Amino acid sequence: MAEKKNLPEFAVLPRHVGFIMDGNGRWAKNRGLPRSEGHKAGAKTFRKIGEYAADLGIECVTFYAFSTENWKRPEAEVNAIMTLFGDYLNEVIDRIRENEEKGIRLKFIGDRNGISPELLNLMDYTEKLTENKSKITLNIAINYGGRHEIASAVKEIAKKAVNGEIYPEEIDENLISDYLYTKGQPDPDLIIRPSGEFRTSNFLTWQGAYSELWFSDVLWPDFTEEHFNEALRAFEKRNRRFGGV
Ligand code: FPP
Repeated sequence: MAEKKNLPEFAVLPRHVGFIMDGNGRWAKNRGLPRSEGHKAGAKTFRKIGEYAADLGIECVTFYAFSTENWKRPEAEVNAIMTLFGDYLNEVIDRIRENEEKGIRLKFIGDRNGISPELLNLMDYTEKLTENKSKITLNIAINYGGRHEIASAVKEIAKKAVNGEIYPEEIDENLISDYLYTKGQPDPDLIIRPSGEFRTSNFLTWQGAYSELWFSDVLWPDFTEEHFNEALRAFEKRNRRFGGV
């Protein structure tokens, strides 16, 4: 039987939360470990926080796993991250039955060019395998860049305009949103960045225009459910005006 969890209650919950999983390298360095060990610990935190978000009843979460700029890292580090990603997808497949009640629908956002065919297969397979799950949508941003996403959308729209399928007058914010990877999803209400940096680093650039931001010094591998609760308590108190008064 599923264990009954004691969960905190919140007056308002964000519908969509974005996580910038930063600080893995420093976490490893502080322990004299290779950077790949930091990513391994970060992948564990990712699992824990994704499941906790589902338990809390959050509709959608997005984790920034690999940016379009992260290819600049040493090959061994890139490979280590891709391997962890593949391990997670294989685990989702192996445990699909025992994890039935978690209700996690997986989606991948980002440019599929550059991702290995083996990983692409796993991505397609797990997206299909979980497409009927409805508790939470968990987006993993892989080879993702916000500006790249907007440029790709503009290219698609321009092609259709040239073919006469879209009139320039029809191009508005809703139409552009429909050409992004997150089509149909709510915009992130809250973006969380641990590890002491105060920037959003090309993450959900269009979608995050009105996101509340929450920063913390904690390194991602050390991020706990309690830190998440703290961010959610802060969000509860924010006065979101969306440009109004
Ligand atoms: C940023 O920390 C982190 C990344 C670029 C990789 C994040 C990837 C994972 C947590 C694993 C992905 C796996 C799954 C299952 C989604 P950093 O290395 O820039 O840290 P630093 O600033 O301390 O060096």
